[in-house]
Amino acid sequence: MTKLLITRQIDDAVLTNARARFETTVRTDPGGLSEAEAAKALTEYDAILPTLGDNFTAGAFEAAGAYLKCKVLGNFGVGYNHIDVAAARVAGVAVTNTPDVLTDATADIGWTLILATARRAGEGERMVRSGQWGGFGPKSLLGTQVTGKTLGIVGMGRIGQAVAKRGHYGFDMPVIFYNRSKKEAGLPARQVDTLAELMAEADFVVVTTPGGAETTKLIDAAAIAAMKPSGIFVNISRGEVVDEAALIDALERGAITGAGLDVYEKEPQVPERLRALDNCVLLPHLGSATVETRRAMGQLALDNIIAWADGQDLLTLVN
Ligand code: DGY
Repeated sequence: MTKLLITRQIDDAVLTNARARFETTVRTDPGGLSEAEAAKALTEYDAILPTLGDNFTAGAFEAAGAYLKCKVLGNFGVGYNHIDVAAARVAGVAVTNTPDVLTDATADIGWTLILATARRAGEGERMVRSGQWGGFGPKSLLGTQVTGKTLGIVGMGRIGQAVAKRGHYGFDMPVIFYNRSKKEAGLPARQVDTLAELMAEADFVVVTTPGGAETTKLIDAAAIAAMKPSGIFVNISRGEVVDEAALIDALERGAITGAGLDVYEKEPQVPERLRALDNCVLLPHLGSATVETRRAMGQLALDNIIAWADGQDLLTLVN
């Protein structure tokens, strides 16, 4: 029987489906596979359902070498920057991801961060919980109005478009976006030529690019410096897309008004300096975290592995 490794606990219904079809092993460790563990898994299983934090690096494929047994990595997640897809291809391992099914949930988290940061919801919540709230005050905890402000999207893919749609239709926001290639946004929105232009013009900057070598530190100190002092920065893509130290510096100096972050450079570590700041809202990578979405992601990852086992075209192949 085909041996499948699922590297983290997943939705019960999806797990039942996996067990019905494959000899399935599920890891109980909540942490990701190290490079050495990933290499070992590649030699022991025919198929793997990995996720963010599992280190399927070039080194892992190299270490598996001639003992490599695995033929497919059905990644749980749309982002796959934890897998060296070029090394996988050379090793003959197909890699798939889970696009579309998580678009709305992730866009909703982008909006959770926009609103929570603009309206200082984190600060307010901490105040209430700690018993520090002194009552309603005409000047207390004043935030920034969201409706009608300019929304700037960095990376106008599916998630960027879903964030933009909510801003345009729900909050009457003019939408601008920066994307490396020319893009039809599917709604009234203006593509700007440079990242600097977007950073300078937007009141709210939301980063939705994929992670990986091409976007690492795309948002550098200069890009952050181009933002308005009233600007709010939101990242729902990958931590490494942003120069985290430069962002912390800007937040500490009050060079921008606030930041809402769902992702970090070295997850699950979040720098102490960032945690100490009141002008940012920090979430633990919740983008796709709804019951419905995580079930759909698991099933799509599994369906890709089933397609491979049946000798059919993979549904969402990325390499
Ligand atoms: C994704 O799908 O890439 C999310 O960030 C969760 O991994």
